[in-house]
Amino acid sequence: MKIYKAANYDEMSCKAANIISAQIIMKPDCVLGLATGSSPIGTYRQLVEWYEKGDLDFAAVTSVNLDEYQGLEGTHPQSYRYFMNENLFSHVNIAPEHTYLPNGAAADIEEECTHYDEIIQKLGGVDLQLLGLGHNGHIGFNEPDEAFAKGTHRVDLKESTIQANSRLFDSIDEVPRHALTMGIKTIMQAKKILVVVSGADKAEIVKQAFQGPVTPQVPASILQMHNDVTLVGDEAALSRLI
Ligand code: GLP
Repeated sequence: MKIYKAANYDEMSCKAANIISAQIIMKPDCVLGLATGSSPIGTYRQLVEWYEKGDLDFAAVTSVNLDEYQGLEGTHPQSYRYFMNENLFSHVNIAPEHTYLPNGAAADIEEECTHYDEIIQKLGGVDLQLLGLGHNGHIGFNEPDEAFAKGTHRVDLKESTIQANSRLFDSIDEVPRHALTMGIKTIMQAKKILVVVSGADKAEIVKQAFQGPVTPQVPASILQMHNDVTLVGDEAALSRLI
């Protein structure tokens, strides 16, 4: 695993955006696995800036997002589709029909999950998967569990995740209790993985995930078994790593 320690959030974002641009430049028709949350916002901002300067071209890029809340239409301001439009898609020249997210409003959720895995497979898999890290070690919405989940599936969100994500909703009652997420197997099949973490509140889980035992109780710990992971974090988030 490669670890880059950045001084702060902006430097972390710049480094992560550098890795993503290198991927796009090396393979213009690459498949990017994308993530939501506060951690990658700066990375997207930096990518948009480079696109505006003419240094990056998303014309041939395809994206597949990790997850989506169940029950939210893409027009809902808290949906991950909306987040992606706001933070990246509407600012660059990626073709809207080449941007995939699980459809949280699908009538048949099981069918939607199978369909999502088929899309990823047809695309030939993910070249570079961007990940944030939940405080309980979740990646995408793969919550601590008895076993590692495989393909895209529906999850019951943990109380701690509902609490953490409620900061973005008007009230905690509005936070969906379920979500659709790529499974651990899907994430692990990505050719390269890039994890972004910032803030002292992530220091303990970073240590557990990257230097603790590999266990489904800390879903991100499985990343220790992947052969091409880059962890980009600020000093505070990486402060407990030895
Ligand atoms: C959410 C998302 C995850 C994200 C995590 C951490 O629950 N489903 O993909 O990584 O929260 O978010 P943040 O970066 O805001 O701490």
